[in-house]
Amino acid sequence: MHAPHFEDESVLADIGRWALARLAARDATLPAAAAPAGLPAVTEAGIGVAATWHWMRDALLPTAIPADHPRYLAFVGGAPTVAGVLADMAISASGVYAGSELEGGHVVAAEVAAVRWLADLVGYGPLAGGTFVSGGSLANLSALVAARHDRVSRGRRAGSVIVAAASAHSSVRSAAAIMGCEVVAAGHPDRPLTGAELVTSLDRVAAADVVAVVVSAGATNTGAVDRIDELAHECAKRGLWLHVDAAYGGAAMLSARVRDRFRGIEFADSVTIDPHKWLFTPFDCAAILYRDSAVAKAAHRQRAAYLDPVNDGAENPADYAVHLTRRARGIPFWASLVANGVESYRDAIEECLGTAAYAAKQVEAADHLELVGEPELSVVLLRCSGWTASDYRDWSKAALAAGVGLVTPTEVGGQAALRLCFVNPQTSTADIDLVLASLGEWSRN
Ligand SMILES: Cc1ncc(COP(=O)(O)O)c(C=O)c1O
Repeated sequence: MHAPHFEDESVLADIGRWALARLAARDATLPAAAAPAGLPAVTEAGIGVAATWHWMRDALLPTAIPADHPRYLAFVGGAPTVAGVLADMAISASGVYAGSELEGGHVVAAEVAAVRWLADLVGYGPLAGGTFVSGGSLANLSALVAARHDRVSRGRRAGSVIVAAASAHSSVRSAAAIMGCEVVAAGHPDRPLTGAELVTSLDRVAAADVVAVVVSAGATNTGAVDRIDELAHECAKRGLWLHVDAAYGGAAMLSARVRDRFRGIEFADSVTIDPHKWLFTPFDCAAILYRDSAVAKAAHRQRAAYLDPVNDGAENPADYAVHLTRRARGIPFWASLVANGVESYRDAIEECLGTAAYAAKQVEAADHLELVGEPELSVVLLRCSGWTASDYRDWSKAALAAGVGLVTPTEVGGQAALRLCFVNPQTSTADIDLVLASLGEWSRN
């Protein structure tokens, strides 16, 4: 089973054709197919590579809702580029262990270059570094572990409180729970956190207990960007670690139109940006960046006699997060940047921002719809006149079943609303019109 057989060539050709056809028609897959009654059993003899692929192609993959469908507007989708997908497929076959320079060779150099590109986007100086992990959740955890280690290494108490913007992603609470920390919320969940609001929360806790401050640059629910310059100023005054979660929103720093909203991000001690969200990279790929990578290395490098050969003065991606063995998940991102160029990325981000602006305008213009705040980035929130929470849920299910799209409800200001998140440049104004028309029809019936 480790040496390719003749039949594998035709399977490979079929996978290649299938992959390109899928990428050429990403809008052809809603609603997802119903799951078949069963799966092939795991048997002593096995059913062979071709039959297994046919199961995947015909019975598994069609039952999933592809996150790159142009009308996948729920949560935070992801629309990988063709170059990114092809590189990802190649990485699987490469046998590359990308935890260390010793083993990863120039693959590590390319991942470091991709980290550097993101660090430049943030505005970090030459000491910056980081790595790619599986998701924003692990990136946030890695940052907070580094923050605590930094305190202890400076002779301070480890601390037990994380002060987080009320809008912070749920993964921040998970990270705090893993670390045995309490979360103190700052500000309002639906509005950008200000310096004054942070001070109010910081005044409620003993400074010596604060592990770090976490703020959002693109809150998941609303897209709001906290006032990072004010927050960085308050953190610097108190010697507190500032982590900016820009997992979703960080990509928007490429847009000259909205770049200014991120002012001050370069002063953060750490930043999360997920290429698998709005930087067109296949799942899974999230970056954790540190202003001073040496601090993170001191926190995360694993030590064991058998690891001495890889730890010898090297630049190892394993050293910057809660992981050791790792896939070269930064390579699809790097390959796509190199292949397509930054201008294409800038254009694609602008396209998404433009689509969000169009959606907001259409909502404002419709009598039966209410726009919930102007979109700060590419999240658009809306309400339908007279709808209850269950109307939103029922419409959402019906819209998916009818192939209209994946649009899910949320809560803003304690009330139900619909949330549209635009991270796919292939989402067109016609897609928006289709979704809004479906809301209109549902309202009339
Ligand atoms: C702002 C933010 N942070 C963190 C996360 C968690 O990222 P992941 O799902 O990649 O773990 C998300 C996910 O949507 C997010 O929007």
